[in-house]
Amino acid sequence: MSTLDLSALKAVVTGGASGIGLATARLLAERGAQVAVLDLDPSGAPAPLLGFTADVSDDASVRAAVGQAAEALGGLDILVNNAGIGAAGTVEDNPDEQWHRVLDVNVLGIVRTTRAALPHLRNSEHAAIVNTCSIAATAGLPQRALYSASKGAVLSLTLAMAADHVREGIRVNCVNPGTVDTPWVGRLLDAAPDPAAERAALNGRQPTGRLVAAEEVAAAIAYLASPAAGSTTGTALAVDGGMAGLRLRPESR
Ligand SMILES: NC(=O)c1ccc[n+]([C@@H]2O[C@H](COP(=O)([O-])OP(=O)(O)OC[C@H]3O[C@@H](n4cnc5c(N)ncnc54)[C@H](O)[C@@H]3O)[C@@H](O)[C@H]2O)c1
Repeated sequence: MSTLDLSALKAVVTGGASGIGLATARLLAERGAQVAVLDLDPSGAPAPLLGFTADVSDDASVRAAVGQAAEALGGLDILVNNAGIGAAGTVEDNPDEQWHRVLDVNVLGIVRTTRAALPHLRNSEHAAIVNTCSIAATAGLPQRALYSASKGAVLSLTLAMAADHVREGIRVNCVNPGTVDTPWVGRLLDAAPDPAAERAALNGRQPTGRLVAAEEVAAAIAYLASPAAGSTTGTALAVDGGMAGLRLRPESR
């Protein structure tokens, strides 16, 4: 098989019924993997994707769904920890309950799913975990204190997990998307006083001048999950239109 080919590999994608997760589940399946989607509402993930209802903030639900998915697939090689939720505001704005909720989903969600998947991943010849992190882990964005704290934790957790499991043959990496054109961002734009102006501002924040496509993030995740990335572990791959690394002068008119 070519090293980007995923035939015979079995994958679980959390938050796989929408946006980046759905694009990833589709691409992994297109490359030959058998894919199970774990989501609060898996109905958005059509066949051949297998759907399992799971809430990553509930340990029993995660253990049950990962067990059922591994059984249905006949093992597990790839885990994509993608489920996540957002929060807007400065450090003054979000109540403690919201801090607990967002950290519970975005950080502990990865802990719970990985914990349940590790016994299966240890039996794989090509075990890989990819976490969906964010540009918010590495750049200070306004009005994103809680969300950024959660994604900073995801970045550090990715490195720690990569160190802990490298000698078991399990690679762990993350992707750091910029602003991606998904239903999530659509909801944010719909809620803005002037959605067109808000979209223009988000486009303009990225050096490429446009939002990232969910399929572009999926391509990075599929690469990191594939045997082609066999020597890559403990890295964060930016898929952000140049936002993290470039410093452009304003466009001259
Ligand atoms: N859209 C962006 O601009 C962007 C940028 C950087 C990172 N991300 C990250 O990408 C990931 C996916 O975002 P998206 O834009 O595709 O969002 P989305 O809202 O389109 O999809 C998220 C999916 O996760 C599921 N989900 C939410 N909470 C869950 C829970 N508790 N248990 C199980 N499933 C749950 C939802 O049902 C949904 O299907 C998130 O981790 C997000 O932080 C998004």
